[in-house]
Amino acid sequence: MNLPNINDARKRTDKKTEYIYLDKDYDKNIFNGKKYYLKTYGCQMNVHDSEEIAARLESIGFTKVEDLEKADLVILNTCAIRENAHDKLYGFLGRCKHVKTSINKDLIIAICGCMAQEENVCNFIKEKHPYVDLVFGTHNICDLEELLINKDNNKQNIEVYSCEGNVYENIKYNRDSKFKAWVNIQYGCDKFCTYCIVPYTRGKQRSRKSVDIIKEVEELVKDGYIEVTLLGQNVNAYGKDLDGELNFAELLQKVADTGIKRLRFVTSHPWDFTDDMISVIAKNDNIMPYVHLPLQSGSDRILKLMGRRYTKEEYISLFNKIKENVDNVSITTDIIVGFPNETVEDFNETLDVVNTCKFDSAFTFIYSPREGTPAAKMVDEVSLEEKEKRLYELNDLINNYSLLNNKKYLGKVVEVLVEGLNEKDNAKVFGYTDTMKLVNFEGSIDLVGKLVNIEITDAKSFSLDGKIKE
Ligand code: SAH
Ligand code: SF4
Ligand code: F3S
Repeated sequence: MNLPNINDARKRTDKKTEYIYLDKDYDKNIFNGKKYYLKTYGCQMNVHDSEEIAARLESIGFTKVEDLEKADLVILNTCAIRENAHDKLYGFLGRCKHVKTSINKDLIIAICGCMAQEENVCNFIKEKHPYVDLVFGTHNICDLEELLINKDNNKQNIEVYSCEGNVYENIKYNRDSKFKAWVNIQYGCDKFCTYCIVPYTRGKQRSRKSVDIIKEVEELVKDGYIEVTLLGQNVNAYGKDLDGELNFAELLQKVADTGIKRLRFVTSHPWDFTDDMISVIAKNDNIMPYVHLPLQSGSDRILKLMGRRYTKEEYISLFNKIKENVDNVSITTDIIVGFPNETVEDFNETLDVVNTCKFDSAFTFIYSPREGTPAAKMVDEVSLEEKEKRLYELNDLINNYSLLNNKKYLGKVVEVLVEGLNEKDNAKVFGYTDTMKLVNFEGSIDLVGKLVNIEITDAKSFSLDGKIKE
């Protein structure tokens, strides 16, 4: 048994990142006929990790099921970013327990992902959820086959490592899409924003080598993929941890040169966003004019307490520079309300930035204390009721600007990458513009995976409606 430890998770040493090129194959019949159910919470990084988990399971004989009750193995890939992520997991675990006690006593229940990296969570699972069979973390997904083969059926198996982490290559993915792919360029985070759990759950910031990234994208292009999204917690800090490596602007240019039709990246921290990046985005038609630029707060006082390393003014000037240089760019953001002792004045500063930047859209959150982070120790005098009031006020403002921005599309013809059938109306399909606007229009399933020209006929806060332009 290996339990995670918050002090080890926090540690950053001079140890060089190891690059490990995996080459082990397992007997593909070991779990023949067995079925797995995989549920994913959290960000794109977890979604992409689940594509790796699926590939590993299928390589040893498992097949996927959508019905929990038919599964022999259930894996819950968890997120730890806010407390409600925990509530969701414990709710679902209750259902798994029920299946195990009343339908299939041999059901293997496994938990992985960011929550598994939390010391308090592992202790809680150990004490209160003994029916959970296996817990593994973000650092040992590559050992999944072995963890399942060597699992001791008579006890709970917890194998979670709190370490800075390595970089694994030759990973196989069972990608959810045949035309849209996630590509990791960097793992972990060293920013240690005072509210955030990610540097503890994902280890230190470590970049993949650019040759490996480009090779992966070239293969995706060859396989007919249309869109690639480069993934990292701070993509613009790419390469800083590797001697002689490209910087993010150079990497972006090289990836654009592979000829992939649509190139995106998330997430960019305002702190490392360079002029070179802006000019590379501006001059390459296949780099999408869309930037997710988390603000978090508009108050310099709160930004400082958050450890964000930029001021309101610096944020706005970066925002303006991107707007001025990248044609037709859309910019979205993340905002936290109710950071400990956020005053009405602080909150008004945030509203002021929203009124200045008029974001295309924003993800907004009420601050959630995460155990082990510096902010969790701050005494907070602001009530939840007040925080909720601020959130509603902020959301109203954000939605107004989303609508105003979307209305600019009325009558225009935009290129949409069609992703799937509209769930509510099967005569319709949906997809995204280069600027990441959701568009619904009448069309059939054979359009999925294609780029189609759409004339926009209606604009709402969260989506656009259109029709195919012949
Ligand atoms: N690396 C990205 C953020 C990843 S987490 C960045 O730095 O921009 C996604 C978002 O979750 C963050 O931008 C933040 O707005 C929100 N978030 C993170 N920790 C939070 C917490 N403790 N409470 C509320 N929201 C949080
Ligand atoms: Fe969290 Fe900050 Fe790192 Fe983003 S940059 S993952 S908010 S610590
Ligand atoms: Fe959640 Fe971990 Fe992503 S905490 S947001 S799944 S990095």
